[in-house]
Order: sequence, then structure tokens, then C-alpha cells
Amino acid sequence: MPLSHFRQAPKLAAHLRNVVQPGPYPERLDALFSQQMARDALSEISQWPGYAPTPLRSLDKLAGALGLGEVLYKDESQRFDLGSFKALGGAYAVLRLLSDKLGVSTSELRAGAAHDAAAQITVTTATDGNHGRSVAWGARQAGCKCRIYVHKDVSENRAAAMTELGAELVRTTGTYDDSVRQCAAESAQNGWFVVSDTSYEGYLNVPRQVMAGYTALASEVMEQAEGPVTHIFLQAGVGGMAAAVAARYWMEHGAALPRIVIVESEYAACFLKSAKQGRAAKVRIRHETVMAGMSCGEVSVVAWEILRRTAGHFVTIADSTVAPAMRMLASGVAGGGEIEAGECSVAGPVALIAAACDQNLRESMQLDGESRVLLIGTEGATDRAIYDDLLKAV
Ligand SMILES: Cc1ncc(COP(=O)(O)O)c(C=O)c1O
Repeated sequence: MPLSHFRQAPKLAAHLRNVVQPGPYPERLDALFSQQMARDALSEISQWPGYAPTPLRSLDKLAGALGLGEVLYKDESQRFDLGSFKALGGAYAVLRLLSDKLGVSTSELRAGAAHDAAAQITVTTATDGNHGRSVAWGARQAGCKCRIYVHKDVSENRAAAMTELGAELVRTTGTYDDSVRQCAAESAQNGWFVVSDTSYEGYLNVPRQVMAGYTALASEVMEQAEGPVTHIFLQAGVGGMAAAVAARYWMEHGAALPRIVIVESEYAACFLKSAKQGRAAKVRIRHETVMAGMSCGEVSVVAWEILRRTAGHFVTIADSTVAPAMRMLASGVAGGGEIEAGECSVAGPVALIAAACDQNLRESMQLDGESRVLLIGTEGATDRAIYDDLLKAV
């Protein structure tokens, strides 16, 4: 019985219903984030060595226990051996950036065509781990230098994964959002290029390419899922992944896009706050959530523009629900095999279980026996020590 891993069914920490009427994908957004960008990203990424679509697993036992038609889990744990979907975004944006700067194509760049010029360029970013790993890997493919800013709570193992890819590491004080500011300031002084996964006014171009890279996972699901899904639960940090997937579905299905549910940590609920206030809002991070990749206090503005028009629900979950859900997926009882689901990966499953087990939420989200729900398993054991620790039964 899948739910036996929880002492009691998990509850949402907060829920906000948002009325959306998406209509066709708007021209205004197409100018910012287009179908062509998504196509270009998939075409480039599918040429990278080791490319293969990641598995789409059916959590059939969980679907049965929750009385849902189907629960699909896109498992990003083995993406390019980098352990998370982030491999798609940062690396792609680095290649696009250098290709634009040096006037060579991304494939020429990967083949070393502009080797000497590339070696003069430094790319930087601030990260909780997974994005930095992708940027470092992209810099290695492009042949440029890479400098990564990590805040004090980023684990040693996650930091080591970036230095192993040749990046220079800078430890900063304060939160993730402070590390973003330090990275931006030092890069401006030194002529380095910031490859951030978050966008703000005046800095849109690179993060929208990061998001274009993420759309590849949604494009793959569309090939794999055998028909449309009805619901997508998307975990958000700065919202780049969630918005990329929502936009890709919106481009594909127009007004008939699936119901989108945004899931955040209760400690980093900047989308929930933004939805409440009807504008991009910030929250102060007072506790670091165990879902490290989602510990972000500020929304990406491009992501907000997409999600405010597409997400029908904004929910938050508590850290205490994470380990039981990881154990549930690892044991295989949910179906789909024994799944290595890292901390952020279980945000969707937790929120789905909480919603499906609550009669009001079930009705409000229209979850029933006909529902085909898509969840994104965004990472595997990106820090093995933390993963093993959380997996130990209590
Ligand atoms: C594993 C994982 N899942 C989810 C997220 C959230 O993605 P985003 O910041 O694009 O919302 C991150 C961000 O780093 C992550 O590393």
C-alpha cells in the first residue's frame, strides 16, 4: 500500500485557487518565449553526446490507491549523468551565449572551432547546486572558464560536483538570493557573463534560453505519454522549470492545456505570495528547506508572466513530508519500479497525495478516476549522503 510510508496522509501547508482562462498562447509571450526557441533547444540538446529521453514511469499503484486514472512520473534522475533536469538548461544557455558572442554555431563550438576565443570568456552563476553543475558542464563543452557562487548552506558534495567539472567555486555568506546579487555585482565589474536561471527586468535573454532547454523534457513527455494529460504538478524554485513546462503545453494545446498546480516549500513560497498579491512578490527565506533546489525567495519574472496565466492552483508542502515520499518511491510500492527520487522530486507526489486525499481539494482540482496526472521527478540523488540519510527509516 503506497501510502503506508506516511504516518498519516500528508496535508498541504497552504492552497490558493487562481482563476485562469488561458486561451491560445499569446503573441506577446511568443515574443519572449517562443515555440521556435523550444524547437531549437531540443534540436541542439538531442545532438549532445549521451542524449536519450529520460524515462516516463507509470506510478500505477499510487494511481490505484488515490482513485486516479493514471499518474505519470518523468524521471530526470539520470539526465546526462548530472542527476537532474537542470542539465538541460544552464548548459544549453552557455552554448547559446558563446555561440552568439563568437559567431559560430553551437555544434562548431562543441567541436572546438573557436577554442582560443572561448578560453578568454568567463561564465558565472549563483546556485544551490544543480544549475551550477549544468553551467559548469556547459562551460566545459564550450571551452570557456566558469566561476560559481554558492551560499553557505550548499552541501560540500554538491559543491564538489561543480569543481570536478572544472568550475572555480566562491562561497558566499547569506542566502541564495544574496549569492545571486554578489555574482551579478562581481561579474559586472570583471566583464564576466552571468548565466542565471532566474530573470529580472533588464536580464531576460539568458534565463529564457535556460528555460528553452528545460522545455525538452516536456517535448519528450508529449512523445512518450500516449495522449494528453489532464493535470501537471510542477515544483517551483524561481519557477523556470514550471513555466517552461507550462508554456510548452500551452503552445501545444492552447486553451485546452492541462490543469497546472504549482508546488513550493512552505519556507520559500514566493509564487504563492505573488499569486495572493497579483504581482511578482518576494519572501524572506528564514529556514532552508530540505528541498534545496526550491529554496528561492524571488520569482523569475518570465516564469511569473507565464504561470500567473496558466496555474490554477498554488500549494505549499512541509519538509516533514519529503523523506516518507522519497522512501515510498524508492521502495517501488508506488509502481514504476524502484525510483531514486531526490528531495525536490517528491514535491509533486506529496502535493498530489495531499490533494487527492482531501475531498474539498479533490473537487476543487477536479481529480477523479479519469485524471491523467503528470509529475516531474526533477532530480535523483544529487547529494548521495543527504539522500541516504533521508532514506533511512525513522
Ligand atoms: C532538482 C530541482 N528541482 C526543482 C528546482 C526548481 O526549479 P526552478 O528554480 O526552475 O523553479 C530546482 C532548482 O534548482 C532543482 O534543482
